[in-house]
Amino acid sequence: MLKAVLNSVSSWLKSVSYYKQTCCLGLLTSTVFVVIYCSCTKNKKRPKPVRYVNEVIFFEDNNRYRNFDKRNHRSVENLKKLTDYLDSAKVSLNICVFTITSHKLGEVILKKFREGVNVRIITDDSMAYGDGSQIAKFRKEGIVVRARCSESLMHHKFAIVDDEILINGSFNWTEQATFGNWENVIITSVPVKMVESYVDHFNSLWIKLNTDS
Ligand SMILES: *[C@@H]1O[C@H](CO)[C@@H](O)[C@H](O)[C@H]1NC(C)=O
Ligand SMILES: *[C@@H]1O[C@H](CO)[C@@H](O)[C@H](O)[C@H]1NC(C)=O
Repeated sequence: MLKAVLNSVSSWLKSVSYYKQTCCLGLLTSTVFVVIYCSCTKNKKRPKPVRYVNEVIFFEDNNRYRNFDKRNHRSVENLKKLTDYLDSAKVSLNICVFTITSHKLGEVILKKFREGVNVRIITDDSMAYGDGSQIAKFRKEGIVVRARCSESLMHHKFAIVDDEILINGSFNWTEQATFGNWENVIITSVPVKMVESYVDHFNSLWIKLNTDS
């Protein structure tokens, strides 16, 4: 079979001009190159495009609104922005905050956990069972919460969505911070190196606090 093919090819080559032979060879070689190139690039993982986020949210002291419907409050919009960012998590949610008493934030964290997002929380144990703390609820649902176990306060207030978006600021994750304080929150995916530093720091704290879960 192969012999027959080779025979016919060689007799064809003898019958055609040198020019045609060269053309054929060129075509064959470039086909081989294209095939090799395609199969190489197909298996290579393209670097993931980074979600570009860069925003600051300011919460204002709005005591005079206290007696009005909180839903008209500017802070409600701000809180919604924040919960939307948390809600955008597809893979992981690493939260490292002094305390969490905000129900809205607690709700979205539980929702993500139930959806299968890898939720990890580091908090300050002095607040873990304080008034309105969501921590007991998280633990009951199965979220792993680790707490600082030294005299110093675990005073961080940052979170990382999908190792990609950093949420950081003065903001305490409390009702009080949302509705009664001047606070700031930065939500950013750049510079990537800085976000990575937060991710690394979270991971090292997570390991360090392993004894207290
Ligand atoms: C994170 O927030 C804290 C508290 O507001 C602030 O001191 C710090 O500069 C912030 N870091 C970044 C990188 O935004
Ligand atoms: C915010 O957290 C600090 C500790 O970081 C705490 O002393 C303070 O009471 C909290 N403020 C509010 C308004 O919850």
